[in-house]
Amino acid sequence: MQNAAFKAAHLPWLYLPLDITQDQVETALDLMKDLPVKGANVTVPYKGVVLPYLDNVEKDARWLGSVNTIYRSGRKLCGTSTDGEGFLRSLGSIRQKLKRSRGLMVGAGGAAKAVAGALAKSGIGSLYLANRTPARAKQLAKSLRNRYRSLEVGLVSISEAEKILPNCDWVVQATSVGLKKGDPSPLSLKRATTSLWVIDLIYHRETAFRRQAKDLGLRNLDGVGMLLHQGALSFELWTGKRAPLRVMRRALLNSLG
Ligand code: ATR
Repeated sequence: MQNAAFKAAHLPWLYLPLDITQDQVETALDLMKDLPVKGANVTVPYKGVVLPYLDNVEKDARWLGSVNTIYRSGRKLCGTSTDGEGFLRSLGSIRQKLKRSRGLMVGAGGAAKAVAGALAKSGIGSLYLANRTPARAKQLAKSLRNRYRSLEVGLVSISEAEKILPNCDWVVQATSVGLKKGDPSPLSLKRATTSLWVIDLIYHRETAFRRQAKDLGLRNLDGVGMLLHQGALSFELWTGKRAPLRVMRRALLNSLG
């Protein structure tokens, strides 16, 4: 996706995977400073690990404890997270309807926090959180309430979540259930009304959760748009140019098969 974008923008740049171990993170970042490297993406499990080694980390990324994009400012390495804004951009026209809306998030890990933060920032009215491990949802709720004072955050069990679906405008599936072929749906959507938007952050395959939404005739999105847009935002930070979205989408869909 990034290499296709560089080519389309006539930049003689190369995006390469760097397969490192945790004890090599600091050395890799030092090397980035000395070599003519414009930036980097950081992925699991190093999104949190890189923070102490960066010269500057943007406020939102600090709150998240997660950096997915590193860019340069002179010799300084700066960290940010494009995950939340990438999610919002992937929503297209639904984004305009978020103000004061009500929704449910299943999951309370890193992806859930990035997306919940972005939703809170866009002015949603209330958010219900459900997670297999309730203590983790409680922690996320606390962190959201501290940062977004006017946001109402409710904690629900999975079975309660299924019951409140008729009161929701959208539901976001932010767990890793569905990454593996044959994974079940973490939530039943059978009580949902037809106005519900169903969003699954998983992009690797059609999950049981999303198939359920389709079978029920509910409007739905997968995580491909978020993946595309977080990458497009990284591209824009590195190059100062607008990302060639169509080229990137085509390359991404080709690589995902
Ligand atoms: P990510 O960075 O992708 O969000 P993560 O921080 O490890 O990854 O979070 C994974 C999320 O998927 C968590 O909400 C996790 O629930 P727990 O907090 O209970 O671990 C959820 N998850 C993972 N496997 C699950 C499963 N089999 N059933 C339900 N939830 C699951």
